[in-house]
Amino acid sequence: MNTFGTLLSKQMPSRFVTISLMSEQAHRRRFLQLSALLTAATSCSTNNTGRDPAEDDGPGQLGKAVSAYGDRSPFEKAKRLTPDVKNPQVASSRTPLADIYGIITPNSLHFERHHSGVPSIDPAQHRLMIHGMVDRPLMLTVADIKRLPSTSRVHFVECSGNSGSEWSAKGAPDVMRAHGLASCCEWTGVSLKLLLEEAGLKREAKWLVAEGADACKMSRSVPLTKALDDAMIVYAQNGEAIRPEQGYPLRLLVPGWEGNINVKWLRRIKVTDTAYYTKDETSKYTELMPDGKSWLFTWPMDAKSFVTYPSGGQKLAGAGQYEITGLAWSGRGKITKVEVSVDGGKTWQTANLQEPVFSKAFTRFRLPWKWDGTDVTITSRATDETGYVQPSRDELVASRGKNSNYHNNATKPWKIAADGSVTNA
Ligand code: CO
Repeated sequence: MNTFGTLLSKQMPSRFVTISLMSEQAHRRRFLQLSALLTAATSCSTNNTGRDPAEDDGPGQLGKAVSAYGDRSPFEKAKRLTPDVKNPQVASSRTPLADIYGIITPNSLHFERHHSGVPSIDPAQHRLMIHGMVDRPLMLTVADIKRLPSTSRVHFVECSGNSGSEWSAKGAPDVMRAHGLASCCEWTGVSLKLLLEEAGLKREAKWLVAEGADACKMSRSVPLTKALDDAMIVYAQNGEAIRPEQGYPLRLLVPGWEGNINVKWLRRIKVTDTAYYTKDETSKYTELMPDGKSWLFTWPMDAKSFVTYPSGGQKLAGAGQYEITGLAWSGRGKITKVEVSVDGGKTWQTANLQEPVFSKAFTRFRLPWKWDGTDVTITSRATDETGYVQPSRDELVASRGKNSNYHNNATKPWKIAADGSVTNA
């Protein structure tokens, strides 16, 4: 049986050949330190054939041929959670955020929320109309839009109903169920400001109404202040065309604002002098306050963070060294700080933020941590560039009551038991 340290030292000649200043002896010391930290690894370094995998270097098998469109390893199992409901076209699927690395959500795992299913749209037949209070109404093909100057930006999209489970005292048992209605991609498209200026806004124009080409004609009102700030018409995500379930061939991207306003399958923008109070912004997506009044047009998603490892449903192998990691974001700008508590909120340590930190985008945080093997409660809290600090659930309920289904951004504690199991705290 081998220790992790000796396995690593066998790889040294090829992997560390460029590090010439450190002596062989120093390398070895470092790897042995690592093996001491990874206590669990010392007992499981052989594979299921019973042989040391480092010795298993016989002639290889000829592998698969090149392919036209790649797929992941069949050993990888991360998948979206889809609901068992009567009408899956009017439903959500959730991103397995505890199984995502870095800040980018793979296109196949981006969460979905559809109000009448995913339409199948031929981009050659699709048109985007921009009309209403403009000097020159436009009818654009997808090809027309792709001819215009484009930009690529990393932004999250989050359903305002995300984390709705956390309004109840019990909360959801794992990251996907609690927070999986959020994803983050590199989006490519054209500035909406450019198109609106091309159409020529009339002086009385104050709003626009965006409409999708799905069966329910999903529609939302957007104030021109935001539309002219950083909104985009996007046609690509993570380097390929946006997926049908994300609005192929065109989607309105309204960075930092609740997912529903990022209208998919975008076919019409009507410039108006007032909000339209559409069914999609009055029958849903409003906040019932404790005094019985409803807040309408609650758009930005406030700063949120949670630990993805260790998190609910996972199990730690035993006391020793770990890296706590998680995600944070804010719809109002950049995340400037994430603090982590490993004692139920009594004390806080500042985590490292993975650079680069983008505005209105997932931000990865990490913190080395040595677990002593006792019961602990871990949680994180984010601060954004406006100075806003993510509230605890008690603080959120004190200001907003418990009638609302939307915009829950409370901190999320996880309990780690002495046997290593992690549950909702
Ligand atoms: Co809202």
